[in-house]
Amino acid sequence: MSKVRRFGFLYAAVLSVFLVSAGGERALAAGKKPSCVTDKCHSGMGKEKFVHGPVATGDCLFCHQQVGKHKFKPTPKHVSDLCYQCHDRMDTMKTVHPPVKAGECTKCHSPHQSSYKYQLRAGGSDLCFQCHNKSLMGGKFQHGPAATGQCTVCHNPHQSDNPRMLFAVGNNVCFSCHTDKADQIKSSKHVHPAVEEGCINCHSPHSANYKYNLIADGTEALCLTCHTGKKDQIAAATTKHGALETGKKCLNCHDPHATNYAKMLRMQPMDLCLSCHNKSYNTPTGVIMDMKAYLAKNKDWHGPIRQKDCVACHDPHGSSNWRMLRAYFPPTFYSNYDPKNYALCFMCHEKTIPSQQWTTTLTNFRNGNENLHYLHVNKLKGRTCKICHDPHASNNPKHIRDYVPFGAWKLPINYKKTATGGQCSPGCHQTFRYDRVNPVKNR
Ligand code: HEC
Ligand code: HEC
Ligand code: HEC
Ligand code: HEC
Ligand code: HEC
Ligand code: HEC
Ligand code: HEC
Ligand code: HEC
Ligand code: HEC
Ligand code: HEC
Ligand code: HEC
Ligand code: HEC
Ligand code: HEC
Repeated sequence: MSKVRRFGFLYAAVLSVFLVSAGGERALAAGKKPSCVTDKCHSGMGKEKFVHGPVATGDCLFCHQQVGKHKFKPTPKHVSDLCYQCHDRMDTMKTVHPPVKAGECTKCHSPHQSSYKYQLRAGGSDLCFQCHNKSLMGGKFQHGPAATGQCTVCHNPHQSDNPRMLFAVGNNVCFSCHTDKADQIKSSKHVHPAVEEGCINCHSPHSANYKYNLIADGTEALCLTCHTGKKDQIAAATTKHGALETGKKCLNCHDPHATNYAKMLRMQPMDLCLSCHNKSYNTPTGVIMDMKAYLAKNKDWHGPIRQKDCVACHDPHGSSNWRMLRAYFPPTFYSNYDPKNYALCFMCHEKTIPSQQWTTTLTNFRNGNENLHYLHVNKLKGRTCKICHDPHASNNPKHIRDYVPFGAWKLPINYKKTATGGQCSPGCHQTFRYDRVNPVKNR
């Protein structure tokens, strides 16, 4: 039983010997104690909506001591010492609110009466803003409970074992109301480390200038305050990704809280790419094809695409290579030979493929021992890989393309593969054949 309950009991008993006089003021029935509340003196006492227990019973002298003819003062040095005679102490936990620690109960409570519950001196957050800066709630977007002045749903006004006098620790404060977020986080495979660390990394519990009381624009600026490496990368990229500049920017692809996909992605990465690249785009560097339709039409997918890994070759945040490629790849039809020019392909394939004119091992693109990769690629004004291969998919063996875009003209290749070689009838020369076992004499 708390102290006040015990006293409540006592007071109920005492109260039973009081009468309410015809004038409405409380009077002492048994005449043991002098009443300070008369028609002339302190007549307002007990008239407000919430009256303190001992005041209601007229026990002025429990707290006031007569020090002169008609001078009264509260007895103890610290008001709280007075209060603690009947109420449990409120300064025993790890975090004690400074005014409570200083014994200033009456900064918040009237010892007598008030029109606010618990005889508070003001209602809702007005009470707190007697001492705290109102700018706490000055942001454009205010958090539900704080906006309605319910500071004490989160903070105990007196004390708590948790920091900031909160009723719980860390994210549990938030989860107590946002149960759907708690469920999302619990049931997801990947939780953003920033979320595990604390919701208040990004959201103000009180108010802020960005939607969802975020401390910065949640679609990009917020992310870049911590991900400074990404900020530098994005700024440095010469080929920028439209995805970072449209709609919800970073949030187009990432969930800020938790997901079932690695790297906080909203979907499986390739599905993510194709959720936008299911149409063609007009860009300053030409039309970009509808990749979803292209992959649906072309059934033989290149290795990494079979593994649904578009980002093996493209950096979704932009890069300094053409088409946001992770390594250099020439955009042109011709290129002087330098293995560095094919760094992209050589991330995964042997860079020796076009290195020697004669070989029996480096490649199957041979006429007898003559390396036809060498022939096409390894020279001044060599053909680039994409002249023959499509990096994504095709319906021909070895990802050979149907045609090569040569300016406005589509140059057909007409590739056919045989068990020991193949042939093509491209727009650039007559039908040529190659055979690894019985070298063909073309022309
Ligand atoms: C629970 C203790 C308590 C009781 C009971 C109590 N007072 Fe007070 N009273 C105080 C305190 C403490 C102050 C000092 C004011 C402050 O700190 O805000 C005070 C101040 C006063 C003052 C000075 C003006 C003011 O309101 O601040 C008057 C007058 C007064 N009390 C009258 C009464 C009367 C009459 C009763 C009985 C009906 C009574 N008090 C009962 C604690 C009490
Ligand atoms: C003489 C005993 C006594 C003293 C001293 C006393 N109180 Fe109380 N207080 C009570 C009683 C009795 C109640 C009524 C309890 C109830 O209604 O359950 C009460 C109720 C309250 C309430 C409202 C609680 C509620 O649940 O509605 C507050 C707030 C309060 N007191 C604050 C103070 C403060 C601040 C002081 C010191 C200035 C103080 N009390 C001093 C006996 C006392
Ligand atoms: C910073 C303002 C503030 C100070 C200082 C303060 N209180 Fe309170 N007190 C409140 C508020 C606000 C409530 C209402 C809590 C709620 O809404 O749940 C309250 C409620 C109470 C209650 C009733 C509910 C409960 O928790 O038992 C009592 C009794 C009480 N205070 C006593 C005291 C005493 C005694 C002191 C001094 C030791 C004190 N208060 C100092 C703000 C304050
Ligand atoms: C009588 C003045 C006063 C009132 C009224 C007051 N506070 Fe405080 N509060 C302080 C002081 C002083 C500090 C310590 C300095 C600071 O952090 O601003 C403080 C600190 C705090 C802290 C931080 C505690 C910590 O661990 O650092 C919180 C949270 C807080 N107050 C909440 C509230 C709430 C909620 C209310 C309204 C129910 C309120 N205060 C009303 C004076 C007050
Ligand atoms: C939804 C819960 C919640 C509500 C409602 C809430 N707060 Fe807080 N408050 C917090 C959390 C969480 C912190 C800790 C922030 C931190 O550590 O950075 C905090 C910190 C504070 C602090 C400490 C210093 C600061 O500026 O961060 C003060 C003062 C404070 N709150 C006052 C208030 C006042 C006044 C209200 C009502 C207008 C209020 N709070 C409403 C959750 C809440
Ligand atoms: C006491 C319950 C409560 C607690 C505790 C609480 N919230 Fe809220 N929160 C609400 C309410 C109510 C809303 C307003 C909902 C609305 O407008 O649809 C809200 C709204 C929000 C919103 C905006 C949502 C929207 O759809 O506009 C965010 C973000 C948020 N809270 C984050 C937090 C964080 C972070 C914490 C922990 C520091 C927290 N909340 C603690 C009750 C709470
Ligand atoms: C890394 C920053 C970050 C952290 C940490 C964070 N959030 Fe958010 N939160 C956001 C962003 C950004 C949005 C806006 C989402 C949008 O626009 O789709 C948001 C939106 C919300 C919303 C409203 C929309 C929705 O998704 O329901 C709620 C509620 C919310 N957050 C709660 C929380 C809670 C609870 C925590 C802690 C468990 C938390 N957030 C931690 C960045 C964060
Ligand atoms: C408060 C700092 C902070 C903010 C704000 C923040 N993050 Fe993070 N984020 C981290 C930390 C810490 C990690 C873990 C270390 C790392 O990978 O850098 C992380 C990791 C990530 C990861 C990699 C996860 C993995 O599985 O490796 C992604 C993706 C990410 N954040 C995206 C975002 C996005 C999008 C936003 C904006 C909505 C954002 N972050 C805002 C701190 C932050
Ligand atoms: C088009 C989709 C997309 C957009 C938009 C996007 N990301 Fe990513 N992000 C990804 C993918 C896919 C990965 C995984 C890359 C990987 O595995 O190499 C990733 C990975 C990350 C990582 C983990 C570290 C890394 O590089 O692997 C961080 C951090 C990150 N993104 C932050 C951001 C930020 C910040 C923004 C907004 C400025 C953003 N992302 C916008 C798709 C995107
Ligand atoms: C939110 C929609 C969206 C998502 C998701 C998306 N993209 Fe894009 N992407 C675009 C837009 C819009 C452009 C066109 C930009 C322009 O107009 O220059 C583009 C352009 C490109 C380009 C050409 C860049 C250039 O200018 O050379 C490549 C390559 C690309 N995206 C690959 C990807 C990959 C890989 C993914 C998955 C990781 C992906 N995209 C996910 C919207 C998206
Ligand atoms: C093996 C590396 C590689 C992989 C894996 C890859 N790409 Fe590409 N992508 C390229 C190269 C090289 C180019 C530029 C050459 C070209 O346009 O044919 C390109 C160009 C593009 C373009 C621009 C197309 C145009 O019409 O100019 C888009 C869009 C694109 N890729 C999206 C994707 C998507 C989506 C995926 C996953 C389904 C993906 N890429 C997987 C290497 C790759
Ligand atoms: C991220 C790794 C990666 C990159 C980069 C890459 N490839 Fe591949 N490539 C593969 C994988 C994996 C296979 C499938 C191998 C298998 O099925 O045995 C493959 C298969 C091929 C094949 C068919 C080989 C065969 O024997 O069927 C060709 C042709 C090819 N790639 C050309 C290229 C070209 C041209 C580039 C540069 C534009 C390139 N690749 C970039 C991983 C890559
Ligand atoms: C003139 C057309 C042409 C060019 C240019 C070309 N290739 Fe090929 N490539 C082929 C043909 C045809 C095959 C199939 C050989 C066979 O299996 O009969 C092939 C096969 C391959 C293979 C499968 C392994 C092998 O060597 O047999 C890889 C990997 C490959 N090419 C990568 C590349 C890369 C990387 C480039 C650019 C540096 C490139 N190709 C340039 C026509 C070409």
